[in-house]
Amino acid sequence: MIDASWHEHDDMDALADAVADVVGAIVEGSVEARGAAVIALPGGATPRPVFALLAEARMPWDKVIIIPTDERLVEAGDSRSNVALLEASFPSTGARFLPLAYAEGDHHAAGRAADSRLQSLQWPLDLVWLGMGGDGHTASIFPGPDLEQALTADVQRAIGVLPDPLPPEAPVARVTLTRAAILAARAILVTITGEAKRTVLKRALADGPRSQFPIGRVLAGAAPPIAIHWCPA
Ligand code: 6PG
Repeated sequence: MIDASWHEHDDMDALADAVADVVGAIVEGSVEARGAAVIALPGGATPRPVFALLAEARMPWDKVIIIPTDERLVEAGDSRSNVALLEASFPSTGARFLPLAYAEGDHHAAGRAADSRLQSLQWPLDLVWLGMGGDGHTASIFPGPDLEQALTADVQRAIGVLPDPLPPEAPVARVTLTRAAILAARAILVTITGEAKRTVLKRALADGPRSQFPIGRVLAGAAPPIAIHWCPA
């Protein structure tokens, strides 16, 4: 059983308020303690209302570095790019953004490039904020051929993956933070909506390393505090 704190909210407005407060406190604490905050934020649709609220918050944004938890291997400016979504979500805040990778050669080469970029970052990350798909994937750690590598890589902070089947929402190769990079973080936050995902996540946390869902295997053995925020879809 993976130890996590569940926070259930009546609606997305309440979830967004709560999560924006949590992220703001983590950033303030990191900047106070270390002079900077390096945070990894998810792609997908769920976090967008939170991003909108967070972008209006008074924070030491000029000391914040934002990276995506994973990136689709597309050209810069492609609407499927996670770093482009993050840049558009936090305009004129003064935060800096570190792209993980673009469509640069095959996904193995992109993974090596992303890992190299992350190796130069202040580490560990102060926050890894994750979403989860209905299949229990998180970041771009999907069931399938790359799962074991994403779970067992201990030196790499990021790897390239080619999910099979390709995810319908963005059927492209990707790079993703590895389990090691996620579990090294000082804090882990998960945001999901709807009954179906709540059932999947509760099952994944209960089964941990034996879970059929990637997120259960990713979070198994986590030492950092894990906060889960949920609201109805
Ligand atoms: C991505 C995300 C991915 C996302 C989940 C949930 O690149 O798509 O990092 O892991 O968080 O697929 O997406 P939704 O919030 O849209 O359901």
